[in-house]
Amino acid sequence: MSIADCKIIELPKITDPRGNLSFIEGGQHIPFDIKRVYYLYDVPGGSDRGSHAHRKLHQFIVAMSGSFDVVLDDGKEKRRFHMNRSHYGLYVCPMMWRDLDNFSSGAVCMVLASERYDETDYIRDYEQFLVTAT
Ligand code: TYD
Repeated sequence: MSIADCKIIELPKITDPRGNLSFIEGGQHIPFDIKRVYYLYDVPGGSDRGSHAHRKLHQFIVAMSGSFDVVLDDGKEKRRFHMNRSHYGLYVCPMMWRDLDNFSSGAVCMVLASERYDETDYIRDYEQFLVTAT
């Protein structure tokens, strides 16, 4: 898979004067079944997250509040995505190096994942990533 497979997906949005509602069904709105949800919050200004790739994991990243950037890198090409709306998310396919930065204060980054946590799925060394990816 390449960076072209990673894309912003617009989610359903039920607008309502009482407040809007969006939802995500695994295999329906995103191209995998959801086995895990985690979120980043209380991120200090100037802090960066990510800096790794996953061998098999599919992920979907949503800015639930505030904003941040996700930089994806497939070893050949890099793309920066600015995440700031909670009815859009970024699908990240396997073998994609990712860096998250530019967090606004109060930002909450929710990640839906196709597998449970498995440290052996991580590639945390960029040189090793390049060798494996290219
Ligand atoms: P990591 O994935 O490196 O964070 P990020 O990509 O956001 O910078 O995870 C940070 C730590 O949290 C690491 O010690 C592993 C642990 N962790 C879990 O135990 N379970 C999880 O589901 C996740 C995502 C991380």
